[in-house]
Amino acid sequence: MSAPRPQDITTRTDMTPTETPNPSQLPRISVLISGNGSNLQALIDGCAAGRIPARIVQVISNRADAHGLTRARQAGITTAFIDHRLFADRAAFDAALANKIQEASPDFVTLAGFMRILTPALVQQFLGKLINIHPSLLPKYPGLNTHARALEAADTRHGATVHFVTPTVDAGPAIVQGILNIQPGETLDHLKSRVHALEHRIYPQALAWLVTGAVRYADGQTTWQDPALTRNRPQIIREDAPLALND
Ligand code: GRF
Repeated sequence: MSAPRPQDITTRTDMTPTETPNPSQLPRISVLISGNGSNLQALIDGCAAGRIPARIVQVISNRADAHGLTRARQAGITTAFIDHRLFADRAAFDAALANKIQEASPDFVTLAGFMRILTPALVQQFLGKLINIHPSLLPKYPGLNTHARALEAADTRHGATVHFVTPTVDAGPAIVQGILNIQPGETLDHLKSRVHALEHRIYPQALAWLVTGAVRYADGQTTWQDPALTRNRPQIIREDAPLALND
């Protein structure tokens, strides 16, 4: 797969602000979580440092004990908890979820370890504005237990993908992938932590591209604003690559 050189990525997304933007004018982001929220933290940190020119205005969890809620509160972000078990079915939960999201009028919605399958109705409502991070090199290993499946298959490469969310789970067009080489004899926990570290690089990168219009969703595909980089395939960031925007 040919990919842009890391220096191209850095140059294209060099958005070091020359002046502090008015926070109320920044693109508004909702983040949906279910758990630890380390990716949420990476997005919070990216916004705080100005590397993502956006503002997280809302964090929603379907679990009350999600540590990500604490992370959000510590960052002064409005939080909401919606217990999916209180709803008769997926459609009813998603309707409540959509209402809660709309309260914050977000420009983009990011899934960061949100462990619920979304209904097509909700996906359609936010199509092109809804992204997810998945711990595999999609289209390989959609679904759960991705690290164990990669090890079991004796794969030599593994990683994570940020993609637009479409009605089919984990099948939307990719924005960026982070790739690493699986080490000989690598344990599940070790691999998982390396993938997580990569996630914390690629998710802020993808969101920065999205909010600045460098990348967008059109006709079911990922489209790059810069024609030279329009290739209908994800950008690639390697674990050992020189640092890019989000590092
Ligand atoms: C990450 O591995 C992400 O790829 C997947 O869920 C996990 C969330 O981890 N969608 P965290 O809650 O961000 O730490």
